[in-house]
Amino acid sequence: MKCIIDTDPGADDVLALIMALNSPDLEILALTTVEGNARLEHTTANALRLLDYMGRTEIPVYSGESTPLEGEFHHAYEVHGDEGLTVRLPDTETKPAQGGAIDFIVDTALAMPGEVTLFALGPLTNVARALMRDERVKDAFERVYVMGGQGDGSGNVTPYAEFNIWDDPYAANVVFGSGTPVTLVGLNITRQTSIARNEEAWLTGDTPGEMLAAQVLESWFELDEAGHRSRFSMHDPVTIMAALRPDLIQTRAATLTVETDGERVGEIAADYESGGSVDVTVGVKSAEALAFMRGLLRG
Ligand code: BDR
Ligand code: CA
Repeated sequence: MKCIIDTDPGADDVLALIMALNSPDLEILALTTVEGNARLEHTTANALRLLDYMGRTEIPVYSGESTPLEGEFHHAYEVHGDEGLTVRLPDTETKPAQGGAIDFIVDTALAMPGEVTLFALGPLTNVARALMRDERVKDAFERVYVMGGQGDGSGNVTPYAEFNIWDDPYAANVVFGSGTPVTLVGLNITRQTSIARNEEAWLTGDTPGEMLAAQVLESWFELDEAGHRSRFSMHDPVTIMAALRPDLIQTRAATLTVETDGERVGEIAADYESGGSVDVTVGVKSAEALAFMRGLLRG
């Protein structure tokens, strides 16, 4: 599966990227970065450092948008750590590729219609801008897998909203309303695939991916001195898994609209009666999903 991964690393992004890099079924054409969890210079630096650490600097990194369609981004440094990661990866000499993320997404999708899968692991700004740039793009993706939305439960930044959708709700409306085929992985699923503090199986291993994943998890729990963090939800990793193991999720087709104003900003409303272009995840086989993800971190 040829893919582009749009990302804002980010602790769970890093785990998702390790899995994707280790998967024999994914051919990663590029990483594209977006501001979100951290400022764009941090998310881009983290993506470059991760590829170097994993020995995969042949994969280009294209830097994307640093402002949402409206207003300003809010960051999540308190969740993910200084510079957007609780682990400081070694510096790299590798630089972002020439050209921007939007051009790369548009050109690549149009050059290989129906062949490219896009993973969106951060705010949807780059994806929305690509769809807005050329109307042929909406028919060119094989599918877009999006991590976002509160599902049928409460949000994680407000009682109503999940971070990625809340950070650029206008972009989310562009993507969901475009007609491009989307699979939406929300908090209802990712909270069912979470890891407890000190869960031994996730803190051991000797491959580069396993060792980094263990460090990310350990330091993420340590960042919370008050001890409120009891579980690490595999938000972005499950989004990669959804493409690789669709047998482990259940979905329902819906038409989605995102609230862009007021206290409920970022809340997704789903109309399942009329169907639609977004397959919303409504179930996951948690134990099998966790085992699959743990295996891919090993490589
Ligand atoms: C999403 O927001 C980010 O903080 C995570 O990386 C994930 O993509 C979860 O709400
Ligand atoms: Ca993310």
